[in-house]
Amino acid sequence: MAVLVLLVVLAASSCCHVVAHGGSSHGIGVNYGRVADDIPSPRRSVELLRAVGAGSVKIYDANPGVLRALEGTHMRVSIMVPNEIIPDIAASAAAADRWVAENLVPYYPETRVKYLLVGNELLSDYSIANSTWPRIVPAMENLHRSLRARRISSVKISTTLAMDTLTSGAFPRPPSAAAFRPDIARAVMRPLLRFLKGTNSYYFVDAYPYFVWSENNKTVPLEYALFQGGGRYVDPGTGLTYTNLLDEMLDAVVASMAKLGYGEVKLAIAETGWPNGGDYEQIGGNAHNAAIYNRNLAARMAENPGTPARPGAKMPVFVFSLYNEDLKPGPGTERHWGLYYANGTAIYPIDLTGARPLWSYPPLPAPENNTPYKGPVWCVLADHGKNLNETAVGNALAYACGQGNGTCDAIQPGRECFLPNTTAAHASYAFNSYWQQLRKTGATCYFNNLAEETTKDPSHGSCKFHSSLV
Ligand SMILES: *[C@@H]1O[C@H](CO)[C@@H](O)[C@H](O)[C@H]1NC(C)=O
Ligand SMILES: *[C@@H]1O[C@H](CO)[C@@H](O)[C@H](O)[C@H]1NC(C)=O
Ligand SMILES: *[C@@H]1O[C@H](CO)[C@@H](O)[C@H](O)[C@H]1NC(C)=O
Ligand SMILES: *[C@@H]1O[C@H](CO)[C@@H](O)[C@H](O)[C@H]1NC(C)=O
Ligand SMILES: *[C@@H]1O[C@H](CO)[C@@H](O)[C@H](O)[C@H]1NC(C)=O
Ligand SMILES: *[C@@H]1O[C@H](CO)[C@@H](O)[C@H](O)[C@H]1NC(C)=O
Repeated sequence: MAVLVLLVVLAASSCCHVVAHGGSSHGIGVNYGRVADDIPSPRRSVELLRAVGAGSVKIYDANPGVLRALEGTHMRVSIMVPNEIIPDIAASAAAADRWVAENLVPYYPETRVKYLLVGNELLSDYSIANSTWPRIVPAMENLHRSLRARRISSVKISTTLAMDTLTSGAFPRPPSAAAFRPDIARAVMRPLLRFLKGTNSYYFVDAYPYFVWSENNKTVPLEYALFQGGGRYVDPGTGLTYTNLLDEMLDAVVASMAKLGYGEVKLAIAETGWPNGGDYEQIGGNAHNAAIYNRNLAARMAENPGTPARPGAKMPVFVFSLYNEDLKPGPGTERHWGLYYANGTAIYPIDLTGARPLWSYPPLPAPENNTPYKGPVWCVLADHGKNLNETAVGNALAYACGQGNGTCDAIQPGRECFLPNTTAAHASYAFNSYWQQLRKTGATCYFNNLAEETTKDPSHGSCKFHSSLV
């Protein structure tokens, strides 16, 4: 009987996290990236954030429209200083104060800004190693002085770092053996950690079990990456037991910090998540796995588990991301991290407060690509159901034809793929010809979102589109 009553209460609260939390939801945060066309307005986006129970939101700039839309919502907000201006902000206290005056003060405190992140994954970009890396902490110090002078004490300053700050990347088993890269450990990480400790701020890490799992798919069980079991791992260095991949990654960062004498700096997860789609040659990117990862993450973080090295530690967490962002370059997974499609339709239901019991969600579509696709794949002009931009397609066609060897020979007048003599038909041929030659060196089937992969042979008549097995 008692069990039954409990189930009813759980079921009732599942639909009503807003009520259950006294009028505002306290779910984990969401990254609100906007590298997409035709996404909902900032105001509608705030509604969509609330609909999934997001307690906080992180943006990649200080966009005025977004910050205004967040006024009065009580959502905690993380804003970002763009990478390009960090040297200027480091060089001049006045420039730092001007940035604060223009990008924070007009919205604060009506918009509840909690974090000011100075750059995004700066230490992954070696082209700015000399110009910007040594300037990160000075920029943070100048911004910190500006906030103090303006008596803004509730905004923490940090920067986001990918897992490649560690010598062996995201998966340096055992976690206790992890260490920061020698090129940055003393010169960049130590002053950064000193600043974070001195200001009681957080190390913001981008941690994606998806990538670790897909690169180690033969040895790491999918369940272990999705918080669904898949065994345990005991770190021989510490004796700590791990039940999921994310915890291993986080404790690798903790161990690296400890080796520089800053083992107590707090952690925040700036980005994590799971792709709901991807290219044919990628695995595990589907709505099934994405829903399971993000739901389990929310349920888990609601209980403040910390990590094995830091049980119970409070950790701000931001899921990546609000929308599928169609203008992101790179492999297909890059454009499939959203909780929502660009048109504002939810890809799967989710409650980021973690209050909704997992069993109460409707069934998910079966995962179809957890193992590699085996068959021919082509790359063609995408059909997005929109009018073709002839100029853009023409530019992409010209680019493709300029790469590789003889890429566009077959679409020259008189040749087997010349007809139909349209930009669209020629672009499909050229995209495929380019991609088949160059994919082994990292070329993607993207062309500013003009191209897409297909498993349907686009050959016609005597015009043959080459394919390769993935
Ligand atoms: C940074 O400076 C070092 C030493 O002066 C130099 O060897 C290196 O090429 C520079 N790197 C970049 C990306 O400019
Ligand atoms: C699966 O893992 C192997 C190495 O263990 C790797 O070579 C391969 O690329 C991975 N597959 C995918 C689709 O990432
Ligand atoms: C939104 O986009 C998705 C993916 O393209 C599509 O499946 C869905 O039907 C669209 N929803 C609406 C309301 O147009
Ligand atoms: C078409 O593409 C060109 C080149 O990329 C771009 O400058 C132009 O704005 C696009 N036109 C439309 C209507 O999107
Ligand atoms: C094009 O041909 C040259 C010379 O034969 C060769 O070195 C190069 O690798 C080829 N490029 C591609 C993309 O196949
Ligand atoms: C092919 O199409 C282009 C662009 O419409 C046109 O200028 C050209 O004359 C056509 N060539 C032939 C042989 O039809």
